[in-house]
This record gives sequence, structure tokens and C-alpha cells, in this order.
Amino acid sequence: MFGPKTYNSTDVPIQVDNLPMDLEDEILRLKKNLNAVLLAHYYQESEIQDIADFVGDSLELSKRATSTDAEVIVFAGVHFMAETAKILSPSKQVLIPDLNAGCSLAEGCPADLFKRWREQYPNYVAITYINCSAEVKALSDIICTSSSAEKIIRQIPEDKPILFAPDKNLGNYLMKKTGRKMEIWQGTCVVHETFSAKKLIHLKSLYPDAKIIAHPECEEVILDQADFIGSTSALLRHVQQSSDKEFIVATETGIIHQMEKSCPEKLFIPAPPEESCACNQCPYMKLNTMEKVYLCMKNRKPEIILTDDLIQKAIIPIQRMMEMSR
Ligand code: 13P
Ligand code: SF4
Repeated sequence: MFGPKTYNSTDVPIQVDNLPMDLEDEILRLKKNLNAVLLAHYYQESEIQDIADFVGDSLELSKRATSTDAEVIVFAGVHFMAETAKILSPSKQVLIPDLNAGCSLAEGCPADLFKRWREQYPNYVAITYINCSAEVKALSDIICTSSSAEKIIRQIPEDKPILFAPDKNLGNYLMKKTGRKMEIWQGTCVVHETFSAKKLIHLKSLYPDAKIIAHPECEEVILDQADFIGSTSALLRHVQQSSDKEFIVATETGIIHQMEKSCPEKLFIPAPPEESCACNQCPYMKLNTMEKVYLCMKNRKPEIILTDDLIQKAIIPIQRMMEMSR
């Protein structure tokens, strides 16, 4: 299993002493003083989601990062998401509670290897999942998220061959869905590859009325059992709109907080991982805590710093995604 990556940083270590009694009040006060907006992904711990100005999936968070008037973006998510916010809003300060909040997909696709892979397929259009580093984005033609990928692939002319990186499960799912053949980078998400097909069948036998809903980063054996497949936001919308009352949720457990909040009368059961562990929680996302949100705002670090050259190159495929996903 991948461990959280240590990012090179000139930042001082976070001090955990002298924390104020009421972190929530302090975060709200700092938000006002800094003219900051707090953006959170659905996989963040529930206290962080509850105090955020906006909670969303990768595409929605990227859009919020462009539209905000705030001077500071506090990004409670993982590193590639905060980097995307910086690329889209380079004049703003982007803070992340823990610089080590990486992603196994991004770490499994280093820029030098991606570049060499691309060079083997000179006539291909490189569509890259947003779960990658800024350097890999800069080497790609179009970025996509799980909620925009299908729409984007359908706009690529039939005679144009496609390279897809870095998630093989999402890539295979998209090939099946769109009927487009693609060359796929063999990366996986440490969370979504842990679900057990055998245990899922057993759970379904205990809850025969429950519908299985899954994120497309899951393996094919899980997706084959799913009644609905979609991005985090699509999964949330689905349970809100569905007349069904019970759901087995095959994605990171953090999303269940919003599901229970908006549908308190429904039952949400986390899909079981292979081992008896908490592997259905993202070890990177969960590095962020309320304490670290407070401290990053108080210290105005860790901060996402990118060179102008990298921003100028990486923004092109992200803007293409924005245009093609409208
Ligand atoms: P979403 O774009 O669906 O929020 O997914 C992000 C992610 O990292 C899933 O593991
Ligand atoms: Fe990356 Fe998987 Fe965590 Fe999403 S859940 S941030 S894909 S490691």
C-alpha cells in the first residue's frame, strides 16, 4: 500500500500546543479576518465539512476556486485539488491543512514516466484524470474528473486515439460506457481497490432491498454489482432523488455524512473492505483535521507554491475540461 508522500516544503512543522478551546469559533474568526473561503471535499471528516463554505466533488471544487472573491482559499482536500485551485486562481493564497495529504493515483504517475509513456503514442490525445500532479497536468491535453470524463470522451473525434491516465478502473469503466478504445495507465486508488466483492455479495444478502452505489474508481467486480455508478456528487444526488430507502455505499465513507444529513430517514451502509481495517477511509484525506485547518489559517502555511511557467502550462488542459464539461 502507498503511504502518504512527504512533499518538499520550507514550511515549519505544525505546532499542536496552545490550541484554542473553541476551534470552530476561531476558524470562523480567522476566515473573516483573512477574507478566506474554506472549500472541503466530501471525504473530509464531518466537522470540517460542517464548517466549510462549500463541500463538493473535484469538478465543483475547481469551479468554486475560480469563482470566489476571497483572497485566501483554504483547501480541505488533497494536494492535487489544492494545486488545481492555485492553478485556477494564481493570485490567491492557497492553504492546505497538511501538505502530506497526497493521493495514490497522483503518486503512482510521476511526470517523467508519464512523459515517456506519452512519447510512445505521438498521435494520441492525452485525457488525464484530475487526480495527478500539476506537472502531469502540464503534459496532458485535457483534464477530466469522474463527473466530466464521459462527456469529454464523447466529444473526441472517432478517428483520434485516446490515452487515459492514471486510474485504470475509471479508464476501463469509461471504455465500456462510451465504447471508445483507450490506452490506459495502470494506476489505482488505495481506497477504491480495497472493496471486497465477496463481502459485498454477503452484505447484499443481509440487506436485500439495499441498492449498491459505487464510485467509478472501484474495480470492475464491484462496479458489475452496482445499481448506480457516479462521482461523489452524483452519488449524493442519486440517494436524494431515489425512492429507495437503503444503500450500500462503495466509496470513501466521508460522503455518508452528507447523505445522512440530507436523507435522515434512509440507511447508508459502507461497503466492506477486504481486510478488517478502515481501508475504506482515505489515509490522505484523513490527514486533515480541525486542528490543522485552524493552524494553517493562523500560520498562513502550509501554502501551495507553483512556478508561473507550470501554472501557465497546467491551466490549458484544465480550461479545456471546464469548456468541454459545460
Ligand atoms: P470526485 O471527483 O468524485 O469527488 O472524486 C475524487 C476522488 O478523489 C475520488 O477518490
Ligand atoms: Fe486519491 Fe483514492 Fe484518496 Fe481519492 S480516495 S484522494 S483517489 S487516494
